[in-house]
Amino acid sequence: MSNDANASGEKIMPGGKNVLVRIEAGIAWVSMNRPEKRNAINPGIVFEMNEVLDHLEMDDDCRVVVITGSGDAFSAGQDLKEYFREPDAGHPVLRERLHKANSQWQWRRMMHFPKPTIAMVNGWCFGGAFQVLLACDLAIADEDATFGLSEINWGIIPAGIVTKSIAMAVLQRQALYYIMTGETFDGRRAEEIGVVNFAVPKDQLVPRVTKLAETLMKKNPHVLRACKQGYHYVRDLPWDAAAEYLAAKSDQTKLRDPEQGDVKGMKQFLDEKSYRPGLGAYDRSK
Ligand code: ACO
Repeated sequence: MSNDANASGEKIMPGGKNVLVRIEAGIAWVSMNRPEKRNAINPGIVFEMNEVLDHLEMDDDCRVVVITGSGDAFSAGQDLKEYFREPDAGHPVLRERLHKANSQWQWRRMMHFPKPTIAMVNGWCFGGAFQVLLACDLAIADEDATFGLSEINWGIIPAGIVTKSIAMAVLQRQALYYIMTGETFDGRRAEEIGVVNFAVPKDQLVPRVTKLAETLMKKNPHVLRACKQGYHYVRDLPWDAAAEYLAAKSDQTKLRDPEQGDVKGMKQFLDEKSYRPGLGAYDRSK
């Protein structure tokens, strides 16, 4: 059941204009929804997306979040008119508020979102859209989707956190090549250089993302959350501090795990001999 409901018990779902949300069988399909503008990210998307993420964090019906775009684009990046030109000419405090809210949804929250996140890149993916893409835990693209760090083409640097995100995701030669040339690349190339996990033909995109989400839903959600936190926090720690952090995180995870996954896992493998942890998850229903 949803945690937000009206008096008749119907779920109150944020979004509906610039962001569409549909929850089906545990998967929240979240679409940036300005297809006529190739889902360019305007203030409407920014503020609505923050509300949607607020909701999905707490909605027990949502177990995996998929971020995608309506129509034939994932997103053409930040809206040049509504995100840059108009706010740049307006009140500086409002501009700063917008930029903060944008980094909030695009990477601060996505990177540490308490549930698994998958970017489903269904088409054009430019500039600021890379922040969202790379902040998602996993990504699957249409092999014919078009990616580009196009900032250089209109005279700005890949700011926000785009340059940092791409530097963390791919090798220096690839990062600088695409940052400095603004050349586009397709989904196959995005897979090759590690910007996405897989590129698949368009008609297999939704089934492949669904299959991945189903795999994640078989895992212990409490431990998945701790895995993500561990990964992001230890990347920038020295080795000894990382080992210490992971030891403490591991103890905390076991202690706080509501389903006591490690006990179940050991029992099912060692005593019941009902599964092989090397080949799949323990049965969460037992
Ligand atoms: N900002 C504002 N409006 C945009 C953006 C954008 N980033 N991208 C597309 N649009 C608008 C167009 O202005 C056009 O509006 P109109 O119908 O009112 O004229 C509409 O969306 C459709 O765009 P077209 O260019 O006609 O669509 P097409 O399919 O031919 O091309 C493409 C798509 C390649 C994505 C092209 O629109 C484009 O190059 N967009 C800019 C991509 C980009 O450089 N993004 C990075 C922005 S910078 C940043 O994110 C930090």
